[in-house]
Amino acid sequence: MEEIIQNYLSPAYPWRGSLTILSQVDSTNNRLKALAKAGAPHGTAIVADHQTGGRGRRGRTFQSPANMGVYLSMLLRPPCEAQDIMHLTCAAGCAMCDAVEKAAGFRPGIKWTNDLVWEKRKLGGILTELGFTAEGKFDYAIVGIGINCCQSAQDFPPEIRDVAASLSMVTGSAVDRWKLAAAELESLWEMDKNLLRGKKEILFQYRKDCVTVGQHISLVRGEEVRHGFACDIDNDGALIVRFPDGHMEAVSSGEVSVRGMYGYV
Ligand code: BTN
Repeated sequence: MEEIIQNYLSPAYPWRGSLTILSQVDSTNNRLKALAKAGAPHGTAIVADHQTGGRGRRGRTFQSPANMGVYLSMLLRPPCEAQDIMHLTCAAGCAMCDAVEKAAGFRPGIKWTNDLVWEKRKLGGILTELGFTAEGKFDYAIVGIGINCCQSAQDFPPEIRDVAASLSMVTGSAVDRWKLAAAELESLWEMDKNLLRGKKEILFQYRKDCVTVGQHISLVRGEEVRHGFACDIDNDGALIVRFPDGHMEAVSSGEVSVRGMYGYV
């Protein structure tokens, strides 16, 4: 596995020596967090074939069976404050669209904030987690990505079968997981180069990839559900929503989850 991924990486990829490939782990984000706390450098990454405790946003589980997907986390230590990388999750979303396009030949959409989708089904998701020092100073960011590659519909548990898909279900042929892993690592490297200087361009691309904009949506906050229209993405990646009474709000991903009015997307 390790040799195959290393062979797919371009000679210029700078973080080969900080790449760990595991056949099984509880969560690549958990493992990388431990390394980050022990001082691991910028660009350290973990790829796993199987996660026993894959985590999604909002405390959800991310199904991570062996031989089916790519589960990958990368540690970044950008020289800035946390508020300067509010757009990191959007940047990672576009980077993953690039990687899927390179490895599987089609460009997925993004359901705000960061689900990779194809025709109303989820192909994967991104979990970004920030770490702070004991003094409260921003220390690191971990970008964790899970992409379904090889499942057929029957491989998904019944509760997500109608809303999940894999890359090979889209392409109708086998997708090389390790080629995808290498493409993800390279896309994250590219993303990192422009993260602080290229915010405007990143959000321009994100608006193009995001399928939520222009949709009637339901905003779910705990027990409360509100309906609105997704108008745009603001300069920090928040979703600008117009409500039936005409007032507008910028909602951030930590506050709410979004559903299409007539289904998942
Ligand atoms: C979501 O769908 O809400 C986000 C899913 C993120 C899953 C990835 S898989 C690699 C990394 N390790 C985890 O435990 N989660 C992320």
